[in-house]
Amino acid sequence: MRQFDGKTIFVTGGAGFIGSAVIRYLLDHTGAGVVNIDKLTYAANLASIPQAPGHRRYEFAKTDICNAAQLRALFERHQPHALMNLAAESHVDRSIDGPGEFIQTNVVGTFTVLQEALRYWHTLGAARRAEFRLLHVSTDEVYGSLGADGLFTEDTPYEPSSPYSASKASSDHLVRAWYKTYGLPTIVTNCSNNYGPFHFPEKLIPHMIIKGLAEETLPVYGDGQNVRDWLYVEDHARALALVVERGSVGATYNIGARNERSNMQVVEMICDLLDQMTPSRNGLRRRLIGFVEDRQGHDRRYGIDASKIEQELGWRSRETFETGLEKTVKWYLDNRSWWRSIIERGYDGKRIGLGRPRAEVASNINA
Ligand code: NAD
Ligand code: DAU
Repeated sequence: MRQFDGKTIFVTGGAGFIGSAVIRYLLDHTGAGVVNIDKLTYAANLASIPQAPGHRRYEFAKTDICNAAQLRALFERHQPHALMNLAAESHVDRSIDGPGEFIQTNVVGTFTVLQEALRYWHTLGAARRAEFRLLHVSTDEVYGSLGADGLFTEDTPYEPSSPYSASKASSDHLVRAWYKTYGLPTIVTNCSNNYGPFHFPEKLIPHMIIKGLAEETLPVYGDGQNVRDWLYVEDHARALALVVERGSVGATYNIGARNERSNMQVVEMICDLLDQMTPSRNGLRRRLIGFVEDRQGHDRRYGIDASKIEQELGWRSRETFETGLEKTVKWYLDNRSWWRSIIERGYDGKRIGLGRPRAEVASNINA
C-alpha cells in the first residue's frame, strides 16, 4: 500500500516552486488525490507539474485563498484528509517594494484557510476529524538573523526583519492559535532556502544561472558574505509529505540540510558549473560578478538545526549542495523553454527591492 492511498490532499500554492514539487512528489510517489488551489500570480506556472494534465488523481482549482466562499465549496466537494498551505507571496525584495500583497495573502489568506478548514473539520465524524491535518509551510526567516555561531531550533524566538518574514511570522502565530484555541490539528514547518528545478528566476540561484548564461553582470548584494542554508526542493517535498503522515499535531518542525554557504560561494560555484557545462569564448564566468547596493534589512545568516525531524520522523536530505546544485544548473540548461516563457511573459530580471515603492503598489499598501 502506498502513502496516502485513497486520501485527498489540498495543496495551496501548488503552481509555485515548492508547491509544484510537492504535487510532483504526491503524484509520482504516493497514492494521494491532489487538488491544487492556486490564484496563479506572477510566480505560478502550471507547466511545473508536467505529469498533471489528464492525471486521474489531480485537479486544479483557480482560487484565491482569501476567497472564503470558494474555499468552502472546495472543502464541501472534495472532503480532503489534509491541507498543505504553501500559497504565499514569497520574495523578500518584492515585499520591500509592496508589502500590501504580503499582508493580504500571507496573513489574511492564511486566516481564511484556517477559518474554512475549521468549519469543514467540525462537519467531520470523529475518525475523520482525528485524521485531518493542516500543514502550514513557513520559513526560517521568521527567526531573524544569526550571528557567527548557533542554529535556529524550533524554540528560537521570532524576530522577523522584512515585511515578508513578518507576514509569515504572523501567519505562523495564527496557525498555532487555531490549534490551541479550537483544537484544529495543525503542524508548522520552518525550512531554509530551497533550490532546484522550476524555481522562478527572481531568486538568487536561478537568477545567477540565467544571467551567467546571458553573460550579464551577476549582482551580488552588499559584500556577498550573507549566509543561507540550502535545501534541495525535492528533499523538502518528501519531508513535508512525511510530516503530514507522521508529524505530531500542534508541533513545529525545522527543515534544513546543513548546507550553509555565503552568497559569494554560491555564485562562484554556479560560475564554475556553467564554465564546465557550457564554456564561454569570452572567459571565465567569475569575471561577471559585481557587487551592488545591499538589500535593506538584509539578514546576515540563516542556519537550521534539523535534528528534530531527523530523529522523530527519520527524515534525511538526500542531496548534498554539490550534487543538488549540479543537477539544478543542468536542469536550467536542459529546460530553457520553461524559464524563457517567464521572460516572454514580462519578467525582466531588473533589480527590485530598493525600497522605492512602485506607484500602483504604494496605493495598495492599505488594501
Ligand atoms: P512561490 O512564490 O514560488 O509560489 C507561491 C504560489 O502561491 C504561486 O503559485 C502563487 O500563484 C500562489 N499564490 C500566491 N498568492 C495566492 C493566493 N492569494 N491564493 C492562492 N494562491 C496564491 O513560493 P515558494 O517558493 O514555492 O514558497 C512556498 C511556501 O514556502 C511559501 O509559503 C513560502 O513562504 C515558503 N518558503 C519558501 C522558501 C523558498 O526558499 N522558496 C523557503 C522557506 C519557506
Ligand atoms: O530562508 C528561506 C527564504 O529563502 C524563503 O522564506 C523565501 O521565500 C525565499 O525567497 C528565500 O529568501 P532569501 O531572501 O534568502 O532568497 P533570495 O533568493 O531572494 O536571496 C538569497 C540571498 O542572495 C540573499 O542574501 C540575497 C542575495 N541576493 C539575491 C538576489 C536575488 C543577491 O546577492 N543577489 C540577487 O540578485
